[in-house]
Amino acid sequence: MHVIVVTGTGTNVGKTVLSTLFVRHLKARGMTVAAFKPLCSGGRSDALKLAKTLGSVPVDIINPWYFRQPLAPAIAAQLTGRSLCIDEITTHVRIHTGTAEVTLVEAAGGLLSPLASDGDAPELIKALKAYPVLVSVNRLGVIHDVRSALANTALKRIGGAPVLLMAPLKRDFSYQHNLNFLRDELGEDRLFHFPRLSTAALSCSIPVRLEKELDRLLAALKVKLAH
Ligand SMILES: Nc1ncnc2c1ncn2[C@@H]1O[C@H](COP(=O)(O)OP(=O)(O)O)[C@@H](O)[C@H]1O
Ligand SMILES: [Mg+2]
Repeated sequence: MHVIVVTGTGTNVGKTVLSTLFVRHLKARGMTVAAFKPLCSGGRSDALKLAKTLGSVPVDIINPWYFRQPLAPAIAAQLTGRSLCIDEITTHVRIHTGTAEVTLVEAAGGLLSPLASDGDAPELIKALKAYPVLVSVNRLGVIHDVRSALANTALKRIGGAPVLLMAPLKRDFSYQHNLNFLRDELGEDRLFHFPRLSTAALSCSIPVRLEKELDRLLAALKVKLAH
């Protein structure tokens, strides 16, 4: 099992955008892929987007735990009198991955958002022996957010997790400076950036330049593409 955990410096940074692009891109490259958003709270739209992209996988397999309250999953679970542990999540992922060559798991919220009663995304990454990718938005403050997340030992595998900066709706003055600084600090091979994407790119046709960036990112995550 080659597992990639898509985590981020927070919520609304582009984790689902990356996860669905990965699914479409891997399928287009002839790879078999499984995808999960094991914990959803406040809404299930992430899991529905993954279900639509995957094709024939029931949403309850992609998202076995859904809490109505818009809270971090561990807190939402507590409110409903339930307790969920990391082992239950990894067991679900292992059982339902089948023979997929690549398994994607989108974590909820940011790296340290409360996920389960006995751990958060770092513990999930370790339990799945996953390759993590950190997503953030290229805006003022991103350098701090990325540096503080990368200090976590769960993101130190393979010489450090790759970092993806999503272009914001409106660039601020820091945009190019953030890219230059983080490229210098992390190295060309660990820093990736996606432009603001059109609705078409988000749902049907991936531009060639983005395909190349996805290939590069998958290589950093040690995925061996079929072609
Ligand atoms: N590169 C991008 N181009 C266009 N829209 C984006 C991009 N990245 C994120 N978005 C938009 O930003 C919002 C949050 O992205 P999402 O992937 O749902 O974040 P997360 O999964 O981290 O909560 C969504 O409306 C998404 O379509
Ligand atoms: Mg999401």
